[in-house]
Amino acid sequence: MHQSSEPRLPDHAVRAVRDESASELTDSSPILQVRNVTKDFGGVRAVDRCTLDVMPGTITGLIGPNGAGKTTLFNLAAGDLSPTSGQILFDGRVISGLRPHQTFARGLMRTFQIPRELRRMTVLENLMLVPARQSGERLWLTWLTPWKVARQERQIQARAIDVLELVNLAHLANELAGNLSGGQKKLLELARTLMAQPKMVLLDEPGAGINRTLLRDLSANIVRASVERDVTFFIIEHDMRFVMAMCDPVIVMANGGVIAEGPPTTVQRDPRVLEAYLGGYVNGPA
Ligand SMILES: Nc1ncnc2c1ncn2[C@@H]1O[C@H](COP(=O)(O)OP(=O)(O)OP(=O)(O)O)[C@@H](O)[C@H]1O
Ligand SMILES: [Mg+2]
Repeated sequence: MHQSSEPRLPDHAVRAVRDESASELTDSSPILQVRNVTKDFGGVRAVDRCTLDVMPGTITGLIGPNGAGKTTLFNLAAGDLSPTSGQILFDGRVISGLRPHQTFARGLMRTFQIPRELRRMTVLENLMLVPARQSGERLWLTWLTPWKVARQERQIQARAIDVLELVNLAHLANELAGNLSGGQKKLLELARTLMAQPKMVLLDEPGAGINRTLLRDLSANIVRASVERDVTFFIIEHDMRFVMAMCDPVIVMANGGVIAEGPPTTVQRDPRVLEAYLGGYVNGPA
């Protein structure tokens, strides 16, 4: 086991790769479509006629003041909640109302904290235990042909090591997950998600509670996963440096709806956005 010797792509190179893939995607349809979605909790309207698109291959940011409805929107997309009204489509198919395991099976995933029992297992084992997105009859076959179990296990291990190299955790493959630092645990959470071969990953405040250096590592790994594995990211983050450096476009929510969207520098200067952050936002979304 060795740490990946592959040099990190410099920012401009990453941007060049992303720009190139972006131009190929100009005619493609959104991977995630939120259509006029509302979510009420009793008398509280957490999401209010929200409409937005996320294009495939992007690292799209979602920002907005506290209570804007960002996390609720992710819960709706991932299947943890059902909308009161409106529709969400993933890959062109309606997913609103599906259960989380069903959105997972279609390739839309969010990261989760490492469960307690997995902390007593190694980093590598943590990845090897991630369920396959599509199982089914393959699992049945393994009952009949034990030699296939061994072969499949070797393949899964190779894939796990590959993912660990991608997120720079290969040198810790045999370490117990419980012994990792906070930032390394975040990388492991990301690695577990990537192991399931997602098409799109939802990250809710990945930078919370980790220091700047680790946040930079995490950003670099997200960019690499995006470029090398063709994963679309949709990221809620309060850390503006993180958002400005990685996300394009950036979508801004306030009072449950989208109030602005565009390249990070444009959004940052938008008076509606400044107003929302200053608490001066009173009228509903335009
Ligand atoms: N389960 C719930 N029951 C009742 N109200 C809720 C529930 N979840 C969220 N809300 C309310 O919905 C609104 C939106 O909350 P949400 O957590 O989606 O905001 P957010 O944009 O993620 O905020 P933050 O940046 O603070 O994480 C808030 O007013 C919140 O109190
Ligand atoms: Mg939130």
